[in-house]
Amino acid sequence: MVEKTNILEELERIKMDALSALAQVQDEEALQTWRRAYLGKSAPVMQVFSNIGEVPKELRRDVGQGANQVKQVLESALEERAAYVREAALQHKLTSEKIDVTLPGRKPISGGLHPQTKVLRRIFQIFAEMGFQVYRSREVESDEYNFELLNIPAYHPARDMWDTFHINQPGVVLRTHTSPGQIHVMRELAPNPVRAILPGMCYRYEQISARSEIQFNQVEVVAVGKNITFGDMKGTLNGFVRRLFNRDVHTRLRPSYFPFTEPSAEMDVECFVCGGKGCSVCKGSGWLEILGCGMVHPTVLKNGGYDPEVYSGFAAGMGPERISMLLHRIEDIRYFWGNDVRFRSQF
Ligand code: DAH
Repeated sequence: MVEKTNILEELERIKMDALSALAQVQDEEALQTWRRAYLGKSAPVMQVFSNIGEVPKELRRDVGQGANQVKQVLESALEERAAYVREAALQHKLTSEKIDVTLPGRKPISGGLHPQTKVLRRIFQIFAEMGFQVYRSREVESDEYNFELLNIPAYHPARDMWDTFHINQPGVVLRTHTSPGQIHVMRELAPNPVRAILPGMCYRYEQISARSEIQFNQVEVVAVGKNITFGDMKGTLNGFVRRLFNRDVHTRLRPSYFPFTEPSAEMDVECFVCGGKGCSVCKGSGWLEILGCGMVHPTVLKNGGYDPEVYSGFAAGMGPERISMLLHRIEDIRYFWGNDVRFRSQF
């Protein structure tokens, strides 16, 4: 005989059980587990409904009502708890993802110009003010342009001055200097006057060290016309050097030898570190070698399409990396193409 009070007590126990389990629920997943356990098909309160047939007739009404009440209480408790869980999740999200808007921002890394781009632009600017245009010449050259037309025949001992990268195709080289551009620009402009600078990468097959790289820039200067003298060369180069170093530096020309100029010279500037007294930068001499220069050799003029009886010209070649090294006292040429931002960002 099923006692009414027993069943109602049982229902009360089911309810208390469910509610205390619900009080432990902290997240959405536990909520679903709880729903299945206490309101799902096989939940104790649902079992009361399915087994109502076994309850004596006269008790069925009360038991049914009691079970319904428990079910309703559990449903509304579930709703309440669900709201609490959602709110708690939101609060957790808000605190854990909190952004401190007062923190200083991270600075975006911005690129900058390579120090050599800057030096080259400065050189272009100075020569532009003196009426020289920039002429771009190729980096892959023929042996003919890189050497022969510049009065350096094959087997000439002067070839030892340039250790050359050859490619598999005979007669093709990576230019060892910007001088072959002289021939290109002369052939393009002859018989008109030339006033040009020719910047660009050059390549030499060298042992890489603090002093020499296998790739480096050069800037070639070339002026061809009627009545161009050694004095014009000296005046132009002095003007350039003074603007470059931003002051009235002393210069000197020393006799030298290049196959494509006659006479040839090298220009030194008074050491701007020690003012000419002698220091480690100028190795005690008081002078810094800055460029090679000379009057364009008659053979080179002829190869460029100018009659050397009528025309003359001067040329010069400088290494902008060397100029930067002197200006900023950089001790190792390998920094330039080493791509280390700690070096590059200093300029
Ligand atoms: N081409 C020479 C070199 O690479 C530099 C040079 C010297 C260029 C004298 C010239 C010049 O135009 O007149 O060593």
